[in-house]
Amino acid sequence: MSHDERTFVMAKPDAVQRGLIGNIIGRLEGRGLKLVGAKFMQIDEALAHEHYGEHEDEPFFDGLVEFITSGPVMAMVWEGADATRQVRQMMGTTDPAEAAPGTIRGDLGLDLGQNVIHGSDHEDPGANEREIDLFFDEGELVDWEKSDAEWVYEDVDH
Ligand code: RTP
Ligand code: MG
Repeated sequence: MSHDERTFVMAKPDAVQRGLIGNIIGRLEGRGLKLVGAKFMQIDEALAHEHYGEHEDEPFFDGLVEFITSGPVMAMVWEGADATRQVRQMMGTTDPAEAAPGTIRGDLGLDLGQNVIHGSDHEDPGANEREIDLFFDEGELVDWEKSDAEWVYEDVDH
């Protein structure tokens, strides 16, 4: 399996306000994923509508836009084998009240509307690339060799 799949991840405004950015990054780093882009930013109305466009007809859409624009977020791109699906597994289910202990939402959240983290949907082909393009210019992503790759992946030579 290739080691260079990229996925979009975001610490949501609740995570930033609660001082959980480091906790989230620590989990992703510890797993062996590689950070290739990061941007501390505030999402405006237009970007929120584009990012969550698939939900625009849902009753929760206005609240979702209000929340995601309510304060800064930490937008990131992480790279690794099966990265999109693996991050979704680490996030846990959408509702933190149902998320398994050990997952990010299951350990750090209690409320469906403020569920700490976003990750690209692995069941929506192209969602990861679409979201990366929406939040990052190509020049803002860094190609680099992480020195522990041989200790994360068995098929990288020592
Ligand atoms: P996200 O996109 O934020 O990573 O979350 P997700 O894939 O796990 O969930 P999704 O279905 O894409 O929903 C986006 C966000 O909308 C809020 N939501 N509220 N009231 C409701 O029934 C409801 N359903 C979803 C959640 O905050 C969810 O993260
Ligand atoms: Mg989603």
